Amino acid sequence: MHAGAGARLRVVVAETLEPEGLEILGAEPGLEVVDVSGADPAALLEALDGAAGLIVRGATTVDEALLAAAPGLRVVGRAGVGVDHIDLEGAARRGVAVVNAPSGNTLSTAELTIGLLLAAARHIARADRSIREGAWIRKELRGAQLHGRALGVIGAGRIGSAVLGLGRAFGMGLLACDPYLTAERRSEIGAEFLELGRLLERADVVSLHVPLTEETRGMIGEAELARMKPSAFLLNASRGEVVDEVAVARALSEGRLAGAGLDVYPREPLPQDSPLREAPNLVMTPHLGGATDEAKAAVAREVAISVRDVLLRRDLGPALNL
Ligand SMILES: NC(=O)c1ccc[n+]([C@@H]2O[C@H](COP(=O)([O-])OP(=O)(O)OC[C@H]3O[C@@H](n4cnc5c(N)ncnc54)[C@H](O)[C@@H]3O)[C@@H](O)[C@H]2O)c1
Repeated sequence: MHAGAGARLRVVVAETLEPEGLEILGAEPGLEVVDVSGADPAALLEALDGAAGLIVRGATTVDEALLAAAPGLRVVGRAGVGVDHIDLEGAARRGVAVVNAPSGNTLSTAELTIGLLLAAARHIARADRSIREGAWIRKELRGAQLHGRALGVIGAGRIGSAVLGLGRAFGMGLLACDPYLTAERRSEIGAEFLELGRLLERADVVSLHVPLTEETRGMIGEAELARMKPSAFLLNASRGEVVDEVAVARALSEGRLAGAGLDVYPREPLPQDSPLREAPNLVMTPHLGGATDEAKAAVAREVAISVRDVLLRRDLGPALNL
């Protein structure tokens, strides 16, 4: 079926999508947007019968049963990055493209990473707590200036390269490790590229921005922490499983690491008995990388544009599975 008079393609919005995304879809005469966010599962299934597009966040499992309920489906849009809850192969078998919004969170996550760094290097969270507790301690809160220190980014993709750009603005030296970048991209980024071990030894700040893969799972454990300077800081706003959190807690407690900032954890919410809760010089945020109005709006726009382009322009460029 093609978009035309009386043949609008239905896009079902299963979970809240920011107005910036709804407006893009709503502006297309060839599309009919049916927003069932907040409604019960039966309403979703009913809307899916005859739908050409579906937009989800993280809470709607797109499995065989759901795909079977939507025989006319051509595209599933994930407003966000992770697609673990979407059956990519099952969708591909049915010719359904799966698209996501990989860039919308980039700048906000890079900014939060630098926020974690400043908070760790200058003891900002602890200083705030001490004042609220009635204290006025200054000597113990002496920190580290970023200017002149070496920022080492592991994974110099979208977020990693944005973090390097922010590090440059602070006057930091720039190191990076990313075996998958072309020489051209490396020179554009303008950091010194090293293999992992060398980066760990030379960096004053190690910041992780890799995807979670078999290769990156547990990439920073005891052995890697031991290669880092005791004066160094570790940042992780990528995926929790990339770092061995028990090893990080131990390194902090034993003074083998100056500080750390974490936004992501192997288990979220962080379990009550996680050793990280007791670790010194650690600043933690609850997966807030993309939690800004700007990032949410950018993600909504990005996914809406990709869904629109698959349906109306037959652009499969952004598809993850076809
Ligand atoms: N904290 C948050 O809220 C938040 C928000 C968005 C993304 N993320 C996470 O941040 C991470 C980076 O996202 P992105 O958009 O920059 O991804 P990206 O794909 O643009 O960049 C990842 C980079 O890592 C590199 N890489 C892969 N394996 C590597 C390895 N073994 N060693 C070194 N480099 C390797 C890739 O070549 C790529 O350049 C992802 O894990 C993503 O899930 C977190």
